[in-house]
Amino acid sequence: MKMIVTGGAGFIGANFIFYILKNHPDYSIVCVDKLTYAGNLSSLESVMNDSRFKFVRLDICDREKIYSLFEDEKPDVVVNFAAETHVDRSIVDPGIFLQTNILGTCVLMDACRKYGNIRYHQISTDEVYGDLPIDRPDLLFTEDTPVHTSSPYSSSKASADFLVLSYHRTYGLPVTISRCSNNYGPYQFPEKLIPLMILNALEDKSLPVYGKGINVRDWLYVEDHCSAVDLILSKGKIGEVYNIGGNNEMKNIDIVKLIVKALGKSEDLITFVADRKGHDLRYAIDSSKLKRELGWEPNTAFETGIDSTIKWYLQNREWWSRIIDGEYKDYYEKMYSDRENLGTLK
Ligand code: NAD
Ligand code: DAU
Repeated sequence: MKMIVTGGAGFIGANFIFYILKNHPDYSIVCVDKLTYAGNLSSLESVMNDSRFKFVRLDICDREKIYSLFEDEKPDVVVNFAAETHVDRSIVDPGIFLQTNILGTCVLMDACRKYGNIRYHQISTDEVYGDLPIDRPDLLFTEDTPVHTSSPYSSSKASADFLVLSYHRTYGLPVTISRCSNNYGPYQFPEKLIPLMILNALEDKSLPVYGKGINVRDWLYVEDHCSAVDLILSKGKIGEVYNIGGNNEMKNIDIVKLIVKALGKSEDLITFVADRKGHDLRYAIDSSKLKRELGWEPNTAFETGIDSTIKWYLQNREWWSRIIDGEYKDYYEKMYSDRENLGTLK
């Protein structure tokens, strides 16, 4: 089985490559990644010399080169993780999100059609469903919840989902889509909540919590996301959408407090700052379809997962210091320096 994994130098893609190479000795992987600011070749260091692994630096929007890659490699399956993924960046500059997330998906699926109706899996997100009220814990996103997006990022992912389903209906392309909740774990780029708070706390920098910190996310350990996608690839029904969730809703402020405590830092570092525009209140996934039909459940308790994530960042300073010493500094300055300070915990 030969798999093309796009976006494999990013957070979830890299973890997925490790998962597949470890659990399927008969699979080989061609990783396609443009290496944007979020892509890190050093994340793939441990598999670079594996004869079942190959890395190709390529933009998924580059139709000609993508076609030629498919012609050379003749993959059996394509799993598309490649995307612009950060909501805050999409608010500042939406264009590249539409380019990569929608047009890139189109190019990959056209290649799948052209080179033998290849099996295609789209990595999507729970953000396509919009948000849920905080005071209605009985409400969860199911696969039948209407798509109703808030940010340019989620709109681009939802557009891609519609396109994927249309390729199934119109051309008979064998597709599946998974919509997952917030992931955490090793190799996550430090612009995202959990690694940002870990690294800032380690450096005794202030911890910028948006608004009142009451927004809720449903956290899933990245390896559990990988096992769900693996299962959907082998047993999922073609043309279907599957939700993947952690069953683990937490308020942002509680996550930040937990990180502060685990690192032995002071809660005085916590600073409430101007809210994200259009900030989704609550995400909560109902993944009962995946459990019922394919027998999937998350394996990692949040306490275990967050503990090993914090340890990973403590033990892999070289990986993240290269990032935060580079262009990330400008990003951080631009995103946070002018943000209104709304006060501290007291
Ligand atoms: P990430 O930002 O860490 O990595 C994205 C990767 O895609 C990077 O390696 C980047 O270089 C690559 N890439 C970007 N544009 C490209 C292009 N045009 N051509 C080729 N490669 C390109 O992202 P992530 O958090 O690992 O997310 C992976 C996928 O999972 C995305 O599709 C995202 O929408 C989805 N998702 C993420 C989460 C989460 O919590 N992180 C949850 C649900 C779904
Ligand atoms: O739900 C799945 C989605 O999860 C993925 O599709 C996205 O690619 C991924 O980035 C993530 O989106 P979020 O916007 O939920 O993740 P982020 O880590 O950016 O923020 C999580 C919450 O923390 C959110 O409510 C905003 C808040 N936050 C974030 C940052 C970066 C802060 O309060 N302060 C911060 O500095």
